[in-house]
Amino acid sequence: MSENLTTKMNAEESMPVALDTFGRPLRALRVSVTDRCNLRCQYCMPEEEYVWLPRETLLSFEEISRLANVFTSLGVDKVRITGGEPLLRKNLPSLISLLRTNAKITDIAMTTNGILLTEQAQSLYDAGLHRVTVSLDTLHADRFKTLTKRDTFAQVLEGIDTVGRIGFQDFKIDTVAMRGFNDDELVDLIEFGKKVGGEVRYIEYMDVGGANDWSSDKVLSCAEILQKLSAHYGLIEPIIEDSWAPANRFRLPDGTIFGIIASTTLPFCSTCDRSRLTADGMWYLCLYAKIGMDLRKPLRDGATEEEMRALLLSTWQHRVDRGAEQRKELEPANSRGRFVEIERLRQDPHLEMHARGG
Ligand code: GTP
Ligand code: 5AD
Ligand code: SF4
Repeated sequence: MSENLTTKMNAEESMPVALDTFGRPLRALRVSVTDRCNLRCQYCMPEEEYVWLPRETLLSFEEISRLANVFTSLGVDKVRITGGEPLLRKNLPSLISLLRTNAKITDIAMTTNGILLTEQAQSLYDAGLHRVTVSLDTLHADRFKTLTKRDTFAQVLEGIDTVGRIGFQDFKIDTVAMRGFNDDELVDLIEFGKKVGGEVRYIEYMDVGGANDWSSDKVLSCAEILQKLSAHYGLIEPIIEDSWAPANRFRLPDGTIFGIIASTTLPFCSTCDRSRLTADGMWYLCLYAKIGMDLRKPLRDGATEEEMRALLLSTWQHRVDRGAEQRKELEPANSRGRFVEIERLRQDPHLEMHARGG
């Protein structure tokens, strides 16, 4: 294939990489395998009942794998399994094994709330899962219950312990930092991470999907997080890396590394190489995208791999998404209101964060 403005060859892999309007490559795919979750975190899924995706619309593992093959032909080499809570999907290790048959996928990761990890971590590892990220926002059982409306803190800790012992390549702990909730736990969480062998990443609270409780005063910014941590640890050194990952990474004086995902105050849309596939096969080009593309229909209607490839390529080439930056641009006019009205969220479950995998 000849090089042009919208595709280029990835030199190391000799693989074509699709480029969007701003020259961003299509490299990482986040695959949600279920919209269900066994927690009800206030920042993501605060209500008990939702409009759930109909079962028959969920992509089978074979369908996900076929789509993944099309994505990798356009440059994707990283796949992250998400939910809802991905471990609620039965037989997840068999999806991992299927994805492992695609040699172009060099990194398979999963983001989970950890509740079901103790029973599933080993079989996921054996199936070839490379990396695990567990969400953990507090070290206090009572706060966990208040935030998640469930009493499963002990299972999460046990799950984290199991992951730490198994030996995954890379183990991370994701903490949404919220003023008035866990801003007094930043140091404790880092210390916890050291103990269990996980790299802690603080995520700024985002006003996406069902985060109806969001307000700017609850956002603990990257700058404040650094200030609080350096008051305790001393000089914090930024790690300069040539990376497309959302986290900025830092080193404490004792060598411990942690990350901050500053999506709200320092959006990183200009280096966004990610897109999201929902469990029912809708493809979203941005966490904030209100419209997605139905890939299930052409897939089930028998589109060939080449036809699917052409569809994906032309869609990515027209991508203009920079949702987090656009939200931030509303701030000077004081018009960063609710992202999506509740009524609209109820009508279209795809707009929820839990449908598109965080
Ligand atoms: P790595 O491959 O380990 O860098 O993973 P990751 O950081 O992409 O994945 P993870 O699921 O751990 O992401 C953590 C959180 O960062 C997500 O739950 C989101 O809150 C946020 N995040 C990830 N990707 C994006 C993105 O493309 N845009 C925005 N605004 N936030 C993102
Ligand atoms: N703000 C920031 N991160 C969020 N997540 C979900 N909702 C939000 C939000 N409103 C992310 C968290 C969680 C993962 C599943 O999704 O990282 O751990
Ligand atoms: Fe990418 Fe959209 Fe997130 Fe920006 S807001 S980094 S474009 S997913």
